[in-house]
Amino acid sequence: MPDKIPAVSVFKFLANAGSILKNPLPFHKENFELKGDTFKLKLGFGNDVVFSRDPEFAKYSLQKNQRNYSKSPIQTKDLAKYVGEGLLTAEGDHWKKQRKLIQPAFHKKQLAQLLDAMHEVIKEELLRVETHKPFDVFEVFNDLAFMTVVKALFKTDVDRDKINRLQYITEQAQKMLVKELRQPFKAWYFKYGGPIDKHLALTKEARVILKELVQERKDSGDKPGDLLDMLLDSQYEDGGFMEEEQLIDEILILFSAGHETTSNALTFTAELLAINPIWQDKIYEEYAFAKANSTTLNEFLRKCTVTKQVLEETMRMYPPAYFIDRVNIEDDEHNGMEIPAGSNLLFSVIEIHKHKDFWDRADQFDPTRFDDNAGMKHPAYFPFGAGPRMCIGNNFAMYEMILAVTELVAMFKITPKSTPIEILPLITLKPKNAMLEFIPR
Ligand code: HEM
Repeated sequence: MPDKIPAVSVFKFLANAGSILKNPLPFHKENFELKGDTFKLKLGFGNDVVFSRDPEFAKYSLQKNQRNYSKSPIQTKDLAKYVGEGLLTAEGDHWKKQRKLIQPAFHKKQLAQLLDAMHEVIKEELLRVETHKPFDVFEVFNDLAFMTVVKALFKTDVDRDKINRLQYITEQAQKMLVKELRQPFKAWYFKYGGPIDKHLALTKEARVILKELVQERKDSGDKPGDLLDMLLDSQYEDGGFMEEEQLIDEILILFSAGHETTSNALTFTAELLAINPIWQDKIYEEYAFAKANSTTLNEFLRKCTVTKQVLEETMRMYPPAYFIDRVNIEDDEHNGMEIPAGSNLLFSVIEIHKHKDFWDRADQFDPTRFDDNAGMKHPAYFPFGAGPRMCIGNNFAMYEMILAVTELVAMFKITPKSTPIEILPLITLKPKNAMLEFIPR
């Protein structure tokens, strides 16, 4: 007979509710230490959440037995109502069909066509970094990440007002979702008092703007070889093309999935580089060599192995997707533990990435642990998830971040202005007060 998962009582949950709302991570850590790598938190009224920092269990649910594990309603309902049913939020056959259709556009070879446009926009956005005074760099990276996805989708010039409005709407919808998830006691007000409706109206407006942009492209007959081209031209197995509404869902999802995670990772990287200047020097040296010895950006990127390791180590310590959620469809069992159907599972990527059984000196920044391409092969490393639903944009994100970090270090020396690094764990792990000083080189 399998054992039950060790439980943390509702009383303990309620006694810590205030601090959990501010930052739940210390509470999770404490319970992992007390109960083991998997525990069940009782929230009252029969609602439980299973937390796990067992990398084997994560792999089992995300990969080996993934058919029995679907995404939680946070993605398939709460988020989907704003961004529609695209890759991130869809399930079952619909998801499979979309993934098969879109995957080729994110292959390294296809992405190579986008690199020049991405690079241009990255350099342009970095000009906004303020120098010689303490400055919170998050907003610059946030805009940079949004504009990079925009440029990859629309290589040709598009109306800046429309783009600004799309960014505003994407961010407002994300903020509203954070409120819904963190203040469930206000659910009634959110639903009937207007806030959700207001945000749904905003997303309708975004859909109208996107339809105009897509129509402009179709009317122009241009084929600039960007992501939009690839999405418009890709065909399902039966030869059909994506319906317009579906295309708009997918674009909204790329904006949302591709922008916040990357801006968080870039901000944490700049903060870690500020307190570890030796790694700035190494990146600078690598940048100079790679630039002098490459004829294309693709070649340049392949030579930037140190920068890649710095990014991998940053995402180990500060994984933007710090939780991955699943619900199991049928009863299951893992490692002698009973997992009744319908269990809400949260895999704590941040705790897996610091697990003492898998990482030495887990609290120390040490990019050399990712020497020899060790990153994605490590058994306890999941910055982009695992299995068939692993991030489709992982290569895109790595290319974008390597270009951004090398350019940043080539332009500036970075010093810290507020330590230690502060975090804001919301839907993604966000940086807080990323105050740095930039001195031109
Ligand atoms: C540092 C940057 C990024 C991180 C850490 C990240 C992380 C993740 C993770 C962990 C998942 C899996 C979620 C799950 O299994 O529940 C995911 C899915 C996804 N990501 Fe990313 N992501 C990043 C950047 C991007 C970018 C740049 C794009 C697109 C341009 C993107 C598009 C997507 C999409 C569409 C999915 C859903 C894939 C599917 O379910 O088939 N991501 N991402």
